[in-house]
Amino acid sequence: MRLPQRLTAPAPGWTRHADVVVVGSGVAGLSAALQLRGAGSVMVVTKDGLSAGATRWAQGGIAAALGPGDTPQQHRRDTLVAGAGLCVEAAVRLLVTEGPDAVRGLIALGTSFDRTATGDLSLTREGGHHRDRIAHAGGDATGAEIQRALIAAVHAAPDIDVVEQALVLDLIPGVDGGVAGITLHVTGEGQHPGVGVVLCRAVVLASGGLGQVFSATTNPPVSTGDGMALAVRAGAVLRDLEFIQFHPTVLWLGPGARGQQPLISEAVRGEGAVLVDDAGVLFMRSQHEMADLAPRDVVAKAIMRRMRETGSRHLWLDGRRLGAVLWERRFPNILATCRAHGIDPVTALIPVTPACHYASGGVATDLQGQSSVPGLFACGEVACSGVHGANRLASNSLLEGLVFSRRIAARLQAGLPPRQEPAADHRPARLLRGSIRRNLQQAMTEHAGVLRSRDGLAAGAAELDRLARRTTHVPGVAAWETTNLHTISRALLDVALAREETRGAHWREDFPERDDDAWSRHLDVTLVAGDTQVYASRSVAPLQGAVA
Ligand code: SIN
Repeated sequence: MRLPQRLTAPAPGWTRHADVVVVGSGVAGLSAALQLRGAGSVMVVTKDGLSAGATRWAQGGIAAALGPGDTPQQHRRDTLVAGAGLCVEAAVRLLVTEGPDAVRGLIALGTSFDRTATGDLSLTREGGHHRDRIAHAGGDATGAEIQRALIAAVHAAPDIDVVEQALVLDLIPGVDGGVAGITLHVTGEGQHPGVGVVLCRAVVLASGGLGQVFSATTNPPVSTGDGMALAVRAGAVLRDLEFIQFHPTVLWLGPGARGQQPLISEAVRGEGAVLVDDAGVLFMRSQHEMADLAPRDVVAKAIMRRMRETGSRHLWLDGRRLGAVLWERRFPNILATCRAHGIDPVTALIPVTPACHYASGGVATDLQGQSSVPGLFACGEVACSGVHGANRLASNSLLEGLVFSRRIAARLQAGLPPRQEPAADHRPARLLRGSIRRNLQQAMTEHAGVLRSRDGLAAGAAELDRLARRTTHVPGVAAWETTNLHTISRALLDVALAREETRGAHWREDFPERDDDAWSRHLDVTLVAGDTQVYASRSVAPLQGAVA
Protein backbone atom coordinates (compact mmCIF):
# COMPACT_ATOMS: atom_id res chain seq x y z
CA MET A 1 0.00 0.00 0.00
CA ARG A 2 1.47 3.35 -1.00
CA LEU A 3 1.09 6.08 1.54
CA PRO A 4 1.34 9.81 0.95
CA GLN A 5 4.94 10.95 1.39
CA ARG A 6 6.15 14.19 -0.13
CA LEU A 7 2.94 16.16 -0.17
CA THR A 8 1.64 18.79 -2.50
CA ALA A 9 2.15 22.34 -1.34
CA PRO A 10 2.50 25.69 -3.05
CA ALA A 11 6.01 27.06 -3.27
CA PRO A 12 6.97 28.64 0.07
CA GLY A 13 6.21 32.36 0.16
CA TRP A 14 8.62 33.35 2.94
CA THR A 15 11.61 32.08 4.92
CA ARG A 16 12.45 32.63 8.57
CA HIS A 17 15.24 31.37 10.84
CA ALA A 18 15.44 29.95 14.36
CA ASP A 19 17.89 27.67 16.11
CA VAL A 20 15.25 25.38 17.57
CA VAL A 21 11.62 25.04 16.50
CA VAL A 22 9.26 23.54 19.10
CA VAL A 23 6.08 22.19 17.54
CA GLY A 24 3.17 22.22 19.99
CA SER A 25 2.11 24.26 22.98
CA GLY A 26 1.01 21.79 25.66
CA VAL A 27 2.96 20.93 28.79
CA ALA A 28 5.78 19.26 26.81
CA GLY A 29 6.14 21.99 24.19
CA LEU A 30 6.01 25.03 26.46
CA SER A 31 8.18 23.41 29.09
CA ALA A 32 10.75 22.56 26.39
CA ALA A 33 10.68 26.14 25.05
CA LEU A 34 11.19 27.62 28.51
CA GLN A 35 14.06 25.28 29.32
CA LEU A 36 15.70 25.92 25.93
CA ARG A 37 16.11 29.65 26.53
CA GLY A 38 19.76 30.55 26.17
CA ALA A 39 20.59 27.58 23.94
CA GLY A 40 19.80 29.66 20.86
CA SER A 41 16.77 31.34 19.31
CA VAL A 42 13.58 29.39 20.06
CA MET A 43 10.35 29.45 18.06
CA VAL A 44 7.13 27.78 19.26
CA VAL A 45 4.77 26.83 16.45
CA THR A 46 1.23 25.75 17.25
CA LYS A 47 -1.58 24.83 14.95
CA ASP A 48 -4.28 26.67 16.91
CA GLY A 49 -4.01 29.03 19.88
CA LEU A 50 -1.46 28.41 22.64
CA SER A 51 -4.03 26.68 24.87
CA ALA A 52 -5.88 24.54 22.29
CA GLY A 53 -4.01 21.25 22.84
CA ALA A 54 -4.79 18.24 25.02
CA THR A 55 -3.01 19.50 28.15
CA ARG A 56 -5.78 21.84 29.20
CA TRP A 57 -8.31 18.98 29.09
CA ALA A 58 -6.38 16.86 31.60
CA GLN A 59 -8.60 16.49 34.63
CA GLY A 60 -7.15 13.95 37.03
CA GLY A 61 -3.68 15.33 37.48
CA ILE A 62 -0.02 14.61 37.46
CA ALA A 63 1.49 11.58 39.19
CA ALA A 64 4.70 11.83 41.24
CA ALA A 65 5.99 10.23 44.44
CA LEU A 66 5.49 13.28 46.63
CA GLY A 67 3.29 11.92 49.43
CA PRO A 68 4.21 10.48 52.82
CA GLY A 69 5.45 6.90 52.55
CA ASP A 70 5.58 7.01 48.75
CA THR A 71 8.81 6.44 46.81
CA PRO A 72 9.90 6.55 43.16
CA GLN A 73 10.38 2.77 43.41
CA GLN A 74 6.70 2.24 44.21
CA HIS A 75 5.70 4.57 41.37
CA ARG A 76 8.07 2.63 39.11
CA ARG A 77 6.46 -0.67 40.09
CA ASP A 78 2.93 0.55 39.33
CA THR A 79 4.06 2.01 35.98
CA LEU A 80 5.71 -1.27 34.95
CA VAL A 81 2.68 -3.36 35.93
CA ALA A 82 0.33 -1.11 33.93
CA GLY A 83 2.72 -1.23 30.95
CA ALA A 84 2.23 -5.02 30.70
CA GLY A 85 5.84 -6.00 30.01
CA LEU A 86 6.66 -3.43 27.32
CA CYS A 87 7.94 -0.47 29.33
CA VAL A 88 11.58 0.51 28.83
CA GLU A 89 12.79 0.17 32.40
CA ALA A 90 15.54 2.81 32.09
CA ALA A 91 12.98 5.36 30.83
CA VAL A 92 10.57 4.54 33.67
CA ARG A 93 13.37 4.97 36.20
CA LEU A 94 14.07 8.47 34.83
CA LEU A 95 10.37 9.33 34.86
CA VAL A 96 9.80 8.43 38.49
CA THR A 97 13.09 9.74 39.88
CA GLU A 98 13.08 13.05 37.99
CA GLY A 99 9.29 13.43 38.27
CA PRO A 100 9.04 14.91 41.78
CA ASP A 101 11.57 17.63 40.95
CA ALA A 102 9.81 18.39 37.68
CA VAL A 103 6.53 18.90 39.56
CA ARG A 104 8.30 21.15 42.06
CA GLY A 105 9.57 23.10 39.02
CA LEU A 106 5.96 23.61 37.89
CA ILE A 107 5.07 24.91 41.35
CA ALA A 108 8.04 27.31 41.24
CA LEU A 109 6.73 28.53 37.89
CA GLY A 110 3.43 29.48 39.52
CA THR A 111 1.20 26.43 39.10
CA SER A 112 -1.24 26.37 41.99
CA PHE A 113 -1.99 22.77 42.97
CA ASP A 114 -4.75 21.94 45.46
CA ARG A 115 -3.56 21.80 49.09
CA THR A 116 -4.79 20.16 52.26
CA ALA A 117 -5.84 22.17 55.31
CA THR A 118 -2.25 21.87 56.57
CA GLY A 119 -0.81 23.25 53.34
CA ASP A 120 0.55 19.98 51.93
CA LEU A 121 -0.14 18.94 48.35
CA SER A 122 -3.54 17.25 48.17
CA LEU A 123 -2.89 13.89 46.51
CA THR A 124 -5.43 11.44 45.19
CA ARG A 125 -5.45 7.98 43.64
CA GLU A 126 -6.30 6.71 40.15
CA GLY A 127 -6.39 3.34 38.42
CA GLY A 128 -3.26 1.19 38.85
CA HIS A 129 -1.70 3.32 41.62
CA HIS A 130 -1.15 1.72 45.03
CA ARG A 131 -0.57 5.13 46.66
CA ASP A 132 -2.25 8.52 46.68
CA ARG A 133 0.18 10.29 44.34
CA ILE A 134 -1.88 12.35 41.89
CA ALA A 135 -1.47 16.11 42.38
CA HIS A 136 -4.42 18.10 41.05
CA ALA A 137 -5.49 21.71 40.63
CA GLY A 138 -8.85 23.46 40.67
CA GLY A 139 -10.35 20.09 41.67
CA ASP A 140 -10.58 18.61 38.19
CA ALA A 141 -8.90 21.38 36.15
CA THR A 142 -5.27 20.30 36.52
CA GLY A 143 -4.29 20.61 32.88
CA ALA A 144 -5.91 24.03 32.55
CA GLU A 145 -3.97 25.36 35.56
CA ILE A 146 -0.65 23.95 34.33
CA GLN A 147 -1.34 25.37 30.87
CA ARG A 148 -2.17 28.78 32.39
CA ALA A 149 1.08 28.90 34.34
CA LEU A 150 3.18 27.82 31.34
CA ILE A 151 1.54 30.33 28.99
CA ALA A 152 2.11 33.12 31.52
CA ALA A 153 5.78 32.14 31.72
CA VAL A 154 6.13 32.07 27.92
CA HIS A 155 4.41 35.47 27.62
CA ALA A 156 6.93 36.79 30.14
CA ALA A 157 9.80 35.52 27.97
CA PRO A 158 10.07 37.96 25.03
CA ASP A 159 12.91 35.94 23.48
CA ILE A 160 10.56 33.02 22.71
CA ASP A 161 8.98 33.60 19.31
CA VAL A 162 5.41 32.23 19.19
CA VAL A 163 3.67 31.49 15.88
CA GLU A 164 0.01 30.52 16.34
CA GLN A 165 -2.51 29.10 13.82
CA ALA A 166 0.39 27.48 12.01
CA LEU A 167 0.23 23.85 10.89
CA VAL A 168 3.64 22.26 10.41
CA LEU A 169 3.55 20.41 7.12
CA ASP A 170 6.83 18.58 6.65
CA LEU A 171 10.41 18.39 7.77
CA ILE A 172 13.01 19.77 5.35
CA PRO A 173 15.84 17.22 5.22
CA GLY A 174 19.43 18.41 5.51
CA VAL A 175 22.24 17.45 3.14
CA ASP A 176 23.89 15.42 5.91
CA GLY A 177 20.74 13.46 6.64
CA GLY A 178 19.40 15.46 9.57
CA VAL A 179 17.05 18.41 9.88
CA ALA A 180 17.41 21.64 7.89
CA GLY A 181 14.02 23.13 8.75
CA ILE A 182 10.27 22.81 8.49
CA THR A 183 7.55 23.96 6.15
CA LEU A 184 4.41 25.39 7.71
CA HIS A 185 1.05 26.77 6.68
CA VAL A 186 0.11 29.87 8.65
CA THR A 187 -3.53 30.94 8.73
CA GLY A 188 -3.31 33.35 11.69
CA GLU A 189 -3.60 37.07 11.17
CA GLY A 190 -0.76 39.51 11.83
CA GLN A 191 1.92 36.99 10.86
CA HIS A 192 3.52 35.82 7.62
CA PRO A 193 0.48 34.17 6.02
CA GLY A 194 0.40 31.10 3.79
CA VAL A 195 3.08 28.46 3.29
CA GLY A 196 6.58 29.31 4.43
CA VAL A 197 9.84 27.83 5.61
CA VAL A 198 11.65 28.05 8.92
CA LEU A 199 15.28 27.01 8.65
CA CYS A 200 16.60 25.65 11.95
CA ARG A 201 19.13 23.35 13.60
CA ALA A 202 16.75 21.16 15.62
CA VAL A 203 13.03 20.44 15.79
CA VAL A 204 11.29 19.35 19.00
CA LEU A 205 7.97 17.67 18.27
CA ALA A 206 5.50 18.10 21.12
CA SER A 207 2.40 18.14 18.96
CA GLY A 208 0.27 15.67 20.90
CA GLY A 209 -1.70 12.61 19.91
CA LEU A 210 -3.96 11.13 17.28
CA GLY A 211 -7.40 10.80 18.95
CA GLN A 212 -9.21 12.12 15.89
CA VAL A 213 -8.35 8.86 14.13
CA PHE A 214 -11.48 7.55 15.86
CA SER A 215 -15.08 8.84 15.68
CA ALA A 216 -15.29 9.50 19.42
CA THR A 217 -12.38 10.55 21.60
CA THR A 218 -11.57 12.61 24.65
CA ASN A 219 -8.95 14.47 22.56
CA PRO A 220 -9.54 17.97 21.18
CA PRO A 221 -10.05 18.51 17.43
CA VAL A 222 -6.37 19.42 16.93
CA SER A 223 -5.22 15.86 17.77
CA THR A 224 -4.80 14.60 14.21
CA GLY A 225 -1.47 12.80 14.50
CA ASP A 226 0.39 15.52 12.56
CA GLY A 227 3.70 15.11 14.41
CA MET A 228 3.80 11.33 14.04
CA ALA A 229 2.89 11.55 10.33
CA LEU A 230 5.51 14.23 9.65
CA ALA A 231 8.14 12.22 11.51
CA VAL A 232 7.50 8.94 9.71
CA ARG A 233 7.51 10.75 6.35
CA ALA A 234 10.91 12.16 7.32
CA GLY A 235 12.26 8.66 7.97
CA ALA A 236 11.73 8.41 11.74
CA VAL A 237 10.69 5.18 13.45
CA LEU A 238 7.22 4.98 15.04
CA ARG A 239 6.97 2.50 17.91
CA ASP A 240 4.20 0.79 19.94
CA LEU A 241 1.54 2.42 17.75
CA GLU A 242 -0.94 -0.42 18.32
CA PHE A 243 -1.37 0.53 21.98
CA ILE A 244 -4.20 3.04 21.84
CA GLN A 245 -5.63 3.57 25.28
CA PHE A 246 -9.40 3.71 25.63
CA HIS A 247 -10.47 5.60 28.74
CA PRO A 248 -13.07 3.52 30.57
CA THR A 249 -15.35 6.34 31.68
CA VAL A 250 -16.35 8.80 29.01
CA LEU A 251 -19.80 10.37 29.29
CA TRP A 252 -22.15 8.47 26.95
CA LEU A 253 -23.98 11.01 24.80
CA GLY A 254 -25.89 8.61 22.57
CA PRO A 255 -25.03 6.20 19.75
CA GLY A 256 -24.18 8.91 17.22
CA ALA A 257 -21.81 10.90 19.44
CA ARG A 258 -18.82 12.08 17.44
CA GLY A 259 -15.68 14.15 18.02
CA GLN A 260 -14.43 15.24 21.43
CA GLN A 261 -16.44 13.66 24.26
CA PRO A 262 -16.56 14.66 27.96
CA LEU A 263 -14.22 12.70 30.22
CA ILE A 264 -15.26 11.52 33.67
CA SER A 265 -11.89 11.41 35.42
CA GLU A 266 -10.59 8.25 37.06
CA ALA A 267 -10.12 10.44 40.09
CA VAL A 268 -13.91 10.21 40.54
CA ARG A 269 -13.41 6.49 41.13
CA GLY A 270 -10.38 7.40 43.25
CA GLU A 271 -12.77 9.30 45.54
CA GLY A 272 -15.14 6.34 45.80
CA ALA A 273 -17.41 6.14 42.73
CA VAL A 274 -18.03 2.63 41.39
CA LEU A 275 -19.00 1.06 38.06
CA VAL A 276 -22.29 -0.82 37.87
CA ASP A 277 -24.16 -2.61 35.11
CA ASP A 278 -27.86 -2.22 34.25
CA ALA A 279 -28.76 -4.64 37.08
CA GLY A 280 -26.72 -2.63 39.61
CA VAL A 281 -23.98 -5.30 39.85
CA LEU A 282 -20.55 -3.99 40.99
CA PHE A 283 -18.89 -6.09 38.32
CA MET A 284 -15.28 -4.84 38.75
CA ARG A 285 -15.03 -6.65 42.10
CA SER A 286 -14.82 -10.01 40.36
CA GLN A 287 -12.37 -8.77 37.70
CA HIS A 288 -9.30 -7.54 39.56
CA GLU A 289 -7.96 -7.20 43.10
CA MET A 290 -7.96 -3.41 42.68
CA ALA A 291 -11.61 -3.55 41.51
CA ASP A 292 -12.69 -0.14 40.09
CA LEU A 293 -9.13 1.15 40.43
CA ALA A 294 -7.51 -1.59 38.35
CA PRO A 295 -5.24 -0.39 35.51
CA ARG A 296 -7.13 1.35 32.74
CA ASP A 297 -6.90 -1.42 30.13
CA VAL A 298 -8.36 -3.93 32.60
CA VAL A 299 -11.33 -1.67 33.39
CA ALA A 300 -11.99 -0.76 29.73
CA LYS A 301 -11.95 -4.44 28.71
CA ALA A 302 -14.22 -5.42 31.61
CA ILE A 303 -16.73 -2.72 30.62
CA MET A 304 -16.70 -3.83 26.97
CA ARG A 305 -17.16 -7.48 27.97
CA ARG A 306 -20.08 -6.56 30.23
CA MET A 307 -21.67 -4.46 27.49
CA ARG A 308 -21.41 -7.38 25.08
CA GLU A 309 -22.83 -9.84 27.63
CA THR A 310 -25.78 -7.62 28.53
CA GLY A 311 -26.35 -5.97 25.13
CA SER A 312 -26.07 -2.51 26.73
CA ARG A 313 -24.70 0.46 24.83
CA HIS A 314 -23.13 1.88 27.98
CA LEU A 315 -22.69 1.10 31.67
CA TRP A 316 -23.01 3.34 34.70
CA LEU A 317 -20.77 5.19 37.12
CA ASP A 318 -22.34 5.57 40.54
CA GLY A 319 -20.84 8.59 42.31
CA ARG A 320 -23.77 9.34 44.57
CA ARG A 321 -21.86 8.39 47.69
CA LEU A 322 -19.47 11.32 47.12
CA GLY A 323 -22.26 13.74 48.09
CA ALA A 324 -22.90 17.28 46.88
CA VAL A 325 -20.09 18.93 48.87
CA LEU A 326 -17.32 16.66 47.55
CA TRP A 327 -18.66 16.82 44.00
CA GLU A 328 -18.68 20.61 44.08
CA ARG A 329 -15.24 20.92 45.63
CA ARG A 330 -13.33 18.18 43.83
CA PHE A 331 -15.06 17.92 40.47
CA PRO A 332 -16.73 21.24 39.68
CA ASN A 333 -16.18 20.98 35.93
CA ILE A 334 -17.29 17.35 35.56
CA LEU A 335 -20.34 18.15 37.69
CA ALA A 336 -21.21 21.14 35.48
CA THR A 337 -20.70 19.12 32.29
CA CYS A 338 -22.93 16.28 33.51
CA ARG A 339 -25.61 18.74 34.59
CA ALA A 340 -25.40 20.50 31.22
CA HIS A 341 -26.28 17.12 29.70
CA GLY A 342 -29.22 16.63 32.07
CA ILE A 343 -27.52 14.27 34.54
CA ASP A 344 -26.97 15.18 38.20
CA PRO A 345 -24.24 12.85 39.53
CA VAL A 346 -25.15 13.79 43.11
CA THR A 347 -28.45 11.95 42.76
CA ALA A 348 -28.22 9.91 39.55
CA LEU A 349 -25.99 7.37 37.83
CA ILE A 350 -23.73 8.65 35.03
CA PRO A 351 -23.92 6.71 31.73
CA VAL A 352 -20.35 5.90 30.63
CA THR A 353 -18.57 4.05 27.85
CA PRO A 354 -14.90 3.66 26.80
CA ALA A 355 -13.53 6.05 24.15
CA CYS A 356 -10.13 6.67 22.57
CA HIS A 357 -8.01 8.66 25.00
CA TYR A 358 -4.26 8.32 24.55
CA ALA A 359 -1.58 6.99 22.20
CA SER A 360 0.93 5.08 24.33
CA GLY A 361 3.24 4.78 21.31
CA GLY A 362 4.57 7.36 18.87
CA VAL A 363 7.90 8.65 17.53
CA ALA A 364 10.54 6.33 19.03
CA THR A 365 13.15 8.23 21.02
CA ASP A 366 16.19 7.56 23.13
CA LEU A 367 16.38 8.67 26.75
CA GLN A 368 17.15 12.27 25.71
CA GLY A 369 14.19 12.47 23.35
CA GLN A 370 16.27 12.07 20.16
CA SER A 371 14.41 10.27 17.35
CA SER A 372 16.08 8.13 14.69
CA VAL A 373 16.44 11.28 12.51
CA PRO A 374 19.38 13.41 13.73
CA GLY A 375 18.14 16.76 15.03
CA LEU A 376 14.51 15.62 15.33
CA PHE A 377 13.38 15.27 18.96
CA ALA A 378 9.99 14.30 20.39
CA CYS A 379 8.33 14.41 23.80
CA GLY A 380 4.86 14.08 25.25
CA GLU A 381 2.09 12.11 23.55
CA VAL A 382 3.64 12.34 20.07
CA ALA A 383 6.68 10.44 21.38
CA CYS A 384 7.38 6.89 22.46
CA SER A 385 10.06 7.23 25.12
CA GLY A 386 9.20 3.76 26.41
CA VAL A 387 7.66 4.81 29.73
CA HIS A 388 4.12 3.70 28.89
CA GLY A 389 4.72 0.29 27.34
CA ALA A 390 1.48 -1.37 26.31
CA ASN A 391 -0.74 0.75 28.56
CA ARG A 392 -0.02 4.11 30.18
CA LEU A 393 -0.51 4.40 33.92
CA ALA A 394 -3.06 7.08 34.84
CA SER A 395 -1.69 10.62 35.17
CA ASN A 396 1.77 9.67 33.91
CA SER A 397 1.26 11.64 30.67
CA LEU A 398 1.73 15.21 31.93
CA LEU A 399 4.69 13.92 33.90
CA GLU A 400 6.29 12.31 30.87
CA GLY A 401 5.91 15.52 28.85
CA LEU A 402 7.52 17.47 31.64
CA VAL A 403 10.42 15.11 32.39
CA PHE A 404 11.41 14.35 28.80
CA SER A 405 11.06 17.95 27.58
CA ARG A 406 13.57 18.86 30.29
CA ARG A 407 15.88 16.08 29.14
CA ILE A 408 15.70 17.28 25.52
CA ALA A 409 16.42 20.85 26.61
CA ALA A 410 19.41 19.71 28.69
CA ARG A 411 20.78 17.84 25.69
CA LEU A 412 20.37 20.81 23.34
CA GLN A 413 21.75 23.22 25.95
CA ALA A 414 24.92 21.11 25.82
CA GLY A 415 25.24 21.79 22.08
CA LEU A 416 22.99 22.35 19.08
CA PRO A 417 23.39 20.26 15.91
CA PRO A 418 25.18 22.12 13.09
CA ARG A 419 23.02 24.09 10.66
CA GLN A 420 22.55 22.14 7.42
CA GLU A 421 21.85 23.09 3.83
CA PRO A 422 18.42 21.82 2.71
CA ALA A 423 18.73 18.73 0.55
CA ALA A 424 16.82 18.24 -2.67
CA ASP A 425 13.68 16.35 -1.77
CA HIS A 426 12.57 13.78 -4.32
CA ARG A 427 9.84 12.18 -2.28
CA PRO A 428 6.60 11.79 -4.28
CA ALA A 429 3.68 14.09 -3.53
CA ARG A 430 0.09 13.20 -2.62
CA LEU A 431 -2.59 14.80 -0.45
CA LEU A 432 -5.97 13.32 0.43
CA ARG A 433 -9.32 15.10 0.40
CA GLY A 434 -10.67 16.43 3.69
CA SER A 435 -14.07 14.92 2.83
CA ILE A 436 -12.85 11.34 3.53
CA ARG A 437 -12.15 12.05 7.21
CA ARG A 438 -15.52 10.80 8.48
CA ASN A 439 -15.29 7.52 6.53
CA LEU A 440 -11.77 7.00 7.82
CA GLN A 441 -12.87 7.56 11.42
CA GLN A 442 -15.80 5.17 10.99
CA ALA A 443 -13.54 2.47 9.55
CA MET A 444 -11.02 2.85 12.37
CA THR A 445 -13.73 2.86 15.06
CA GLU A 446 -15.35 -0.24 13.62
CA HIS A 447 -12.19 -2.22 12.92
CA ALA A 448 -9.38 -0.97 15.17
CA GLY A 449 -11.21 0.06 18.35
CA VAL A 450 -11.11 -1.62 21.76
CA LEU A 451 -11.61 -5.16 20.42
CA ARG A 452 -9.71 -6.20 17.29
CA SER A 453 -9.46 -9.26 15.02
CA ARG A 454 -7.54 -10.21 11.88
CA ASP A 455 -10.64 -10.02 9.69
CA GLY A 456 -11.69 -6.68 11.11
CA LEU A 457 -8.24 -5.13 10.80
CA ALA A 458 -7.90 -6.43 7.23
CA ALA A 459 -11.30 -4.94 6.36
CA GLY A 460 -10.17 -1.64 7.89
CA ALA A 461 -6.98 -1.72 5.80
CA ALA A 462 -8.95 -2.42 2.60
CA GLU A 463 -11.28 0.51 3.34
CA LEU A 464 -8.34 2.84 3.99
CA ASP A 465 -6.64 1.74 0.77
CA ARG A 466 -9.85 2.55 -1.07
CA LEU A 467 -9.99 5.99 0.58
CA ALA A 468 -6.36 6.63 -0.39
CA ARG A 469 -7.49 7.01 -4.00
CA ARG A 470 -9.36 10.21 -3.10
CA THR A 471 -6.48 12.58 -3.68
CA THR A 472 -6.60 16.35 -4.14
CA HIS A 473 -4.39 18.99 -5.67
CA VAL A 474 -5.83 21.66 -3.40
CA PRO A 475 -3.59 21.93 -0.35
CA GLY A 476 -5.12 23.27 2.84
CA VAL A 477 -5.29 22.45 6.53
CA ALA A 478 -8.19 19.97 6.11
CA ALA A 479 -6.35 18.04 3.39
CA TRP A 480 -3.11 17.94 5.39
CA GLU A 481 -4.83 16.81 8.57
CA THR A 482 -6.78 14.12 6.76
CA THR A 483 -3.64 12.88 5.03
CA ASN A 484 -1.87 12.74 8.38
CA LEU A 485 -4.78 10.83 9.92
CA HIS A 486 -4.66 8.40 7.02
CA THR A 487 -0.89 7.86 7.27
CA ILE A 488 -1.09 7.08 10.98
CA SER A 489 -4.26 4.98 10.72
CA ARG A 490 -2.83 2.81 7.98
CA ALA A 491 0.34 2.21 9.97
CA LEU A 492 -1.70 1.48 13.09
CA LEU A 493 -3.71 -1.17 11.22
CA ASP A 494 -0.51 -2.85 10.03
CA VAL A 495 1.02 -3.12 13.51
CA ALA A 496 -2.27 -4.15 15.10
CA LEU A 497 -2.50 -6.94 12.51
CA ALA A 498 1.08 -7.98 13.14
CA ARG A 499 0.79 -8.25 16.94
CA GLU A 500 -0.96 -11.59 17.33
CA GLU A 501 -1.59 -11.51 21.06
CA THR A 502 -3.59 -9.57 23.64
CA ARG A 503 -1.52 -7.23 25.79
CA GLY A 504 -2.30 -3.96 27.57
CA ALA A 505 -4.41 -1.73 25.37
CA HIS A 506 -4.18 -4.09 22.35
CA TRP A 507 -7.01 -6.63 22.57
CA ARG A 508 -7.25 -9.33 19.87
CA GLU A 509 -10.39 -11.45 19.86
CA ASP A 510 -8.56 -14.11 17.80
CA PHE A 511 -5.44 -14.12 20.02
CA PRO A 512 -6.91 -13.61 23.49
CA GLU A 513 -3.78 -14.44 25.53
CA ARG A 514 -0.59 -12.52 26.26
CA ASP A 515 2.30 -14.33 24.58
CA ASP A 516 5.58 -13.33 26.22
CA ASP A 517 7.67 -15.84 24.25
CA ALA A 518 6.74 -14.37 20.88
CA TRP A 519 5.77 -10.79 21.64
CA SER A 520 7.87 -9.28 24.46
CA ARG A 521 9.17 -6.77 21.96
CA HIS A 522 8.26 -3.51 20.30
CA LEU A 523 6.84 -3.22 16.82
CA ASP A 524 8.47 -0.44 14.81
CA VAL A 525 7.05 1.21 11.70
CA THR A 526 8.87 3.12 9.01
CA LEU A 527 7.87 4.27 5.54
CA VAL A 528 9.97 2.85 2.71
CA ALA A 529 9.16 4.24 -0.73
CA GLY A 530 5.66 5.04 0.49
CA ASP A 531 4.91 1.62 2.00
CA THR A 532 4.58 0.99 5.73
CA GLN A 533 7.22 -1.48 6.89
CA VAL A 534 6.72 -3.18 10.23
CA TYR A 535 9.71 -4.56 12.13
CA ALA A 536 9.73 -6.47 15.38
CA SER A 537 12.64 -5.15 17.41
CA ARG A 538 14.77 -7.63 19.28
CA SER A 539 13.65 -6.69 22.76
CA VAL A 540 12.18 -4.05 25.01
CA ALA A 541 14.84 -1.33 25.02
CA PRO A 542 15.23 2.37 24.30
CA LEU A 543 15.74 3.42 20.72
CA GLN A 544 19.07 2.03 19.54
CA GLY A 545 21.97 4.37 20.09
CA ALA A 546 20.43 5.78 23.25
CA VAL A 547 22.70 7.23 25.88
CA ALA A 548 21.59 6.51 29.44
C1 SIN B 1 -8.35 11.02 34.08
O1 SIN B 1 -8.46 12.05 34.75
O2 SIN B 1 -9.01 10.01 34.26
C2 SIN B 1 -7.37 11.01 32.95
C3 SIN B 1 -6.02 11.04 33.49
C4 SIN B 1 -5.07 10.46 32.50
O3 SIN B 1 -5.39 10.29 31.33
O4 SIN B 1 -3.96 10.12 32.92
